[in-house]
Amino acid sequence: MKITNLLNSNLVGINDLAIDVLVGLDCHPKKISSKYFYDDLGSELFQKITQQKEYYLTDKEFEIFSSFSKPPIKIENKKIDIIELGVGDGHKSKLLLDGYLREGYEVNYFPVDISAKALELLEKNITVDDNITVEGIVGDYIDGLAYARRKTENQQLVLFLGSNIGNFDSVMAKNFLKKIWTLLQKGDSVLLGFDLKKEIEILLNAYNDSNGTTSQFNLNVLRRINSELNANFVLDNFFHYGTYNAEHGAMESFLISKVEQEVSIKDLNFKVEFDAFEPIHLEYSFKYSKKDIADLCKSTGYKLGENFYDQSEYFCDSLWIK
Ligand code: AVI
Repeated sequence: MKITNLLNSNLVGINDLAIDVLVGLDCHPKKISSKYFYDDLGSELFQKITQQKEYYLTDKEFEIFSSFSKPPIKIENKKIDIIELGVGDGHKSKLLLDGYLREGYEVNYFPVDISAKALELLEKNITVDDNITVEGIVGDYIDGLAYARRKTENQQLVLFLGSNIGNFDSVMAKNFLKKIWTLLQKGDSVLLGFDLKKEIEILLNAYNDSNGTTSQFNLNVLRRINSELNANFVLDNFFHYGTYNAEHGAMESFLISKVEQEVSIKDLNFKVEFDAFEPIHLEYSFKYSKKDIADLCKSTGYKLGENFYDQSEYFCDSLWIK
């Protein structure tokens, strides 16, 4: 697979991780954005989460993709660009790509991810065929989409799967979807994976798996700060706590300090104090109702094409058209 790296375009050299950690750990309550989970090890740990029996999201979305007897959107000239923002291990996208290839389409597939490791993990599962080109893009999602948009005149289908949209709050989600809308041409579409609201126990189990993989995944952000910013977090001094916030309709995850402690982040010349049981907020995973999906679609200017559900209606892939 050809790989294009758009990451080194930060001309002013500002380290976003450093600034966000400095500001976030100086807030009350303390916070670190979950976007920093995905270094190479974080991407591997997330892949491991998707294999945990309690984390139903990946299997349910796979079930939806397996049930597409025909590709979800038909294009007259049988040429399509598929741009996947945030890649998984490729199992779901492979079903879709194969579906288009079977129908005789020419496909350009652009998987976009901030982590080169994630693209590497994808590569072994991806279709090779004369009618498909694959160009992996390491970079920000919107930059990746803008890059792909400039490359061809084909109709485009943007994939944002796996409930990635759930990690954005409602302002961020609208902002992101509107940016995509702006980059797309009329008739282009997006297929978005939403985790649906459901019994809270099922959610709690999914984000507190019995093997402790979610816990390792969350603690990895401290390991990343240790290695990239020269900090001395002792990982054993924190525990993972995943809970459902009914008011927000979101799973939320925290790392909680087991003891009163001080941590030093050398590169930032910053010392941070923790009380015993003080939390760091890490992640929102918003859950959606069918109405939430329809409202978001309308408010960001798309037309709702079709909703696809798994049998138990745990998950929904929603097709929106510009
Ligand atoms: C990547 N994202 C959709 C996952 C989720 O479900 O919010 C990340 C995750 N966090 C804990 N488990 C999985």
